[in-house]
Amino acid sequence: MQPPAITLIKQEHQALTTVLRALRQSVKRVGKSGQPPDFDGLRAMLFYLDEMPARVHHANESELLFPRIYERCPALRPVLDRLQAEHSRGESAVRELEHALTGWQIMGNERREAFELLLHAYSEDYLGHMEVEESYVLPVAMDYLSPADWSELGAAFTRQRGALAESIARGHRELFERIASNQSLS
Ligand SMILES: [Fe+2]
Ligand SMILES: [Fe+2]
Repeated sequence: MQPPAITLIKQEHQALTTVLRALRQSVKRVGKSGQPPDFDGLRAMLFYLDEMPARVHHANESELLFPRIYERCPALRPVLDRLQAEHSRGESAVRELEHALTGWQIMGNERREAFELLLHAYSEDYLGHMEVEESYVLPVAMDYLSPADWSELGAAFTRQRGALAESIARGHRELFERIASNQSLS
């Protein structure tokens, strides 16, 4: 049976993938229609991508899961170092996207393509990051970590999430539901 810690990570990857796709589709639709976009809606999706990984997902991986994998399987160190570095870069990448979005809003359509290119690069990088975790790191972790490791990790994930105010966690869930169901975000 799959450990709950892995289930949680995969569910969050699914949510992040859904939001990345929704964001790219929204931008593509705007490109075809020639109408000004719902900037608040696009900004809300960037907000989710920034806050959910930074506060929840990356913290579970970087502070809890990856160190345990280092211990049990040192050969994975180069891959884990790369993934950690990508977590650290994620925050500034979202800042750049927000800046490019503001550029589009203030300066007009001539800045749309710059935002779209940046978004394309960001989402390809992030999808690739999750793919490495799911297809390579998690299967290796399943082989090397013991049932006791997984149960400690599951408890530690829950503790770390418990430290996040329930109102913030609920806000993330509600925002995701609105994005996933294509409701107005502004
Ligand atoms: Fe990650
Ligand atoms: Fe991840």
